[in-house]
Amino acid sequence: MSLTYIQHKIPFVREMMEVTRNLWEMGWGERNGGNISYLLAEEEVETYIDVTNVKRSLALEFPVVDLAGKYFIVSGTGKYFKNVVFNPEENLGVIRVAKDGKAIDIVWGYEDGSRPTSELAAHFMSHMERLKQDPNHRIILHTHATNSLAMTFVHDLDEKLFTKTLWQMCTECLVVFPDGVGVIPWIVPGTNKIGEITAEKMKDHRVVIWPQHGIFGAGRTMDETFGLIETVEKAAQIYMLINSHQGGIKQSLTDQELLDLAETFSVIPVAGILEAK
Ligand code: 13P
Ligand code: ZN
Repeated sequence: MSLTYIQHKIPFVREMMEVTRNLWEMGWGERNGGNISYLLAEEEVETYIDVTNVKRSLALEFPVVDLAGKYFIVSGTGKYFKNVVFNPEENLGVIRVAKDGKAIDIVWGYEDGSRPTSELAAHFMSHMERLKQDPNHRIILHTHATNSLAMTFVHDLDEKLFTKTLWQMCTECLVVFPDGVGVIPWIVPGTNKIGEITAEKMKDHRVVIWPQHGIFGAGRTMDETFGLIETVEKAAQIYMLINSHQGGIKQSLTDQELLDLAETFSVIPVAGILEAK
């Protein structure tokens, strides 16, 4: 299916249809792999949806008072990204966080009785953290980006070393993510614990790597968030390519070259990684 034919009367639903399709086409969204939540403005939702018509309410195991009254469109648990474009009303849902932050109201979607992603804790906790850092923040995107995942088997998981390697792989990486990547230990997914630890990393980074699992990205728009993950994944791909090359690495970007880049593009690299000569 060509993306040109993806249409929906609700613009934020169409954006979700497009991004889930793109993630699947990249090969990062096998089966039900990955999930997305997108913070929506109340007016934006009310233009298209009758928000007084609550279809179902679900209790949250983790209270999110900071998000009280906020609306999100969220991918459903167990849903295949491959299929979202054919049936958005079953695979996606629009939810509103209750006033006490202890429940959510479903106001659109999940029409087959489904519910939001099992990673909702990690999404909500990450949203709360990113909103403290950036009032324009809106999106949390989790995907099983192939090379980023592969790299966690063969590279040191120290996040400073991980970040530096990624910066060295493509000249523009440092400019796209000067805040580096956070790396957490392996933790059982779908738990409050992985949510809390991911959100802690989101204080300083818009990208968090889940070893042997995938990647979490945060951003203001779908393009920006997808582009951020794409850039990390491209760097990881280069790393995996050159590591399987018999001849080994003959040259790379030096600290000084990366610092020159940061100066030219007016970005501040996260501290403690690069050393000036
Ligand atoms: P969901 O289907 O619940 O979104 O889970 C997919 C996933 O990637 C878990 O980490
Ligand atoms: Zn996952």
